[in-house]
Amino acid sequence: MRLPEELQFIENARLPQKTTQARMDGKLCILTGATSGVGYHAAKRLAQGGARLVLVCRNPHKAAQVQAELQHAYGNQVDVLQADFSRLDEVRIAAKGILASYPHIDVLINNVGLHNTHRMMTNEGFESVFCVNHLASFLLTHLLLDRMVASAPSRILQINSQGHRFGGLDLSDLTWQRRKYHGLQAYGASKTAQLLTVWELAERLRGTEVTINAMHPGEVRTNIGMNNGPVYRFYQRYLIGWMLKNPNISGEAIYYLVAAPEMAAVSGTFFNQTIEEKPATHALDRELGKRIGAISEQLTGLTHVLT
Ligand SMILES: NC(=O)c1ccc[n+]([C@@H]2O[C@H](COP(=O)([O-])OP(=O)(O)OC[C@H]3O[C@@H](n4cnc5c(N)ncnc54)[C@H](OP(=O)(O)O)[C@@H]3O)[C@@H](O)[C@H]2O)c1
Repeated sequence: MRLPEELQFIENARLPQKTTQARMDGKLCILTGATSGVGYHAAKRLAQGGARLVLVCRNPHKAAQVQAELQHAYGNQVDVLQADFSRLDEVRIAAKGILASYPHIDVLINNVGLHNTHRMMTNEGFESVFCVNHLASFLLTHLLLDRMVASAPSRILQINSQGHRFGGLDLSDLTWQRRKYHGLQAYGASKTAQLLTVWELAERLRGTEVTINAMHPGEVRTNIGMNNGPVYRFYQRYLIGWMLKNPNISGEAIYYLVAAPEMAAVSGTFFNQTIEEKPATHALDRELGKRIGAISEQLTGLTHVLT
């Protein structure tokens, strides 16, 4: 029996995933959040495929370890840039550094992500999860966009989540001041905002040979949520940990989406790992997408760059 459309993602997770043997020798890939989980496994798979890597990470010690490990194992060029994505000023500095050092960018993978059980605010006045998961990747992508267009064909991949299905996006309360904070909904809001802006950007990039897609990396065992209190950490580690998969499946899926020749012209699409999937209805509202896009440009100070 086929599941109803809104539950199709459960069935898709069980389907055999696509892989590619295509190489990425010499291709320059910018990857955020490579120090753990999904990002670490993506970095490993990209290095194995021959890519040159620029890892944008907040923890320089962890990043240096990954850099040394990958250089030793695969002999690739692996560079590191430091940026905390809860600070948009640091994202701007990282983008400036990338533009100054890399005249050609083949791939941008926005992977950094966070889940908080309690409301936290950034120094710049944003709700942390919304800032780290959406605003920071939105800003980085836009600051690198001209370079990606000049480097075309090139690909942008947003590491999104089935968590977008939790909803929670309220344009009149992006800081959760009026509503009681709910971690899963705040996570859902950030991922919904990111997805909505993918459709807008895909449309804007039509004809440029720059693609932008979003993917859910699978339910995998990582450090996500481990910044929360002991009760949540116990729940994550012991109650649901055994159900989660090895994040090397995420690395393989990400590699397929950015390396496979058959993906070269695919844009504006959501994938469950490598299976094309329909997102939740609220994440397909193009009117809402235009509004969150304009708000995100304003909040990140991009408006003057884009006009
Ligand atoms: N795990 C899953 O089952 C799952 C499911 C759906 C979607 N996802 C998505 O997959 C992506 C990766 O998550 P993960 O599961 O691999 O979690 P993870 O193991 O916690 O990795 C998150 C990465 O993001 C970095 N990061 C977190 N906050 C940051 C900040 N303020 N500034 C810069 N970097 C920051 C972390 O750096 P540190 O090492 O310094 O902490 C780490 O490199 C996220 O976008 C997440 O939403 C994961």
